[in-house]
Amino acid sequence: MSNWTLYEGDCLEVMRGMQDNSVDVIVTDPPYGVNYDTGETFMPGEFANVLPLALPELYRILRPDGAIFVFSSSRNLADWALRFQIYFKLQNILVWDKEKDSGCWSPSSFAFQYEPILFGLKGKRKLTARFSDVIRCKPPRGRERVHPTQKPVDLCRILIRSVARPGMLVYDPFAGSGTTLVAAYKEGVDSIGSELNPEYCNIIRQRMAALQQPLPLAE
Ligand SMILES: C[S@@+](CC[C@H](N)C(=O)[O-])C[C@H]1O[C@@H](n2cnc3c(N)ncnc32)[C@H](O)[C@@H]1O
Repeated sequence: MSNWTLYEGDCLEVMRGMQDNSVDVIVTDPPYGVNYDTGETFMPGEFANVLPLALPELYRILRPDGAIFVFSSSRNLADWALRFQIYFKLQNILVWDKEKDSGCWSPSSFAFQYEPILFGLKGKRKLTARFSDVIRCKPPRGRERVHPTQKPVDLCRILIRSVARPGMLVYDPFAGSGTTLVAAYKEGVDSIGSELNPEYCNIIRQRMAALQQPLPLAE
């Protein structure tokens, strides 16, 4: 059985307490710069404030053969890809194809059906098999959706599986509802998450507790 640890707080402080080269894989979905209470968006650069601070720490804690996946969006991709490449070798920009557009549409832009994912390495690492750079997966809907930017567990499972190794540790600094931790658990991998918002931390604890419930005995 795999282990998971959640730190309730600012990932910048959490990472300060983590050792150099202590994490194998980072899967994360940083805040996109949208205030979901007001709908307000920040300027590129301004909204990326936390990412430039997090990137050097992510580099420090990642093992020399570690891998990193960062969810992005078509609006912030240009900015984030540049910042990302200061630290990591950009191997791919993966496409999460949501199978149908998200309903976020305006008369002056195309409807959004995909999200880019930056995949990078610190040094060298081979994938476990051949994987396509387009991953088709429906977003969480209905009662399974507990966070405004929640990612599908199956998508995160594929990312983790692509670089899996026995005994590896996955970290998600911006854990949200804990999708990375759920995916890691299902892949049999240990994980650490940090999340600033106490309500989302409670959701993570509930999701992880539900996974650890013993299965009912078959009749
Ligand atoms: C885009 S969401 C992640 C959603 C996640 N992928 C999921 O499937 O639920 C980003 C999360 O980062 C959290 N966050 C923002 N700044 C943070 C910080 N400095 N440290 C830790 N968490 C932070 C937000 O509260 C938000 O839940």
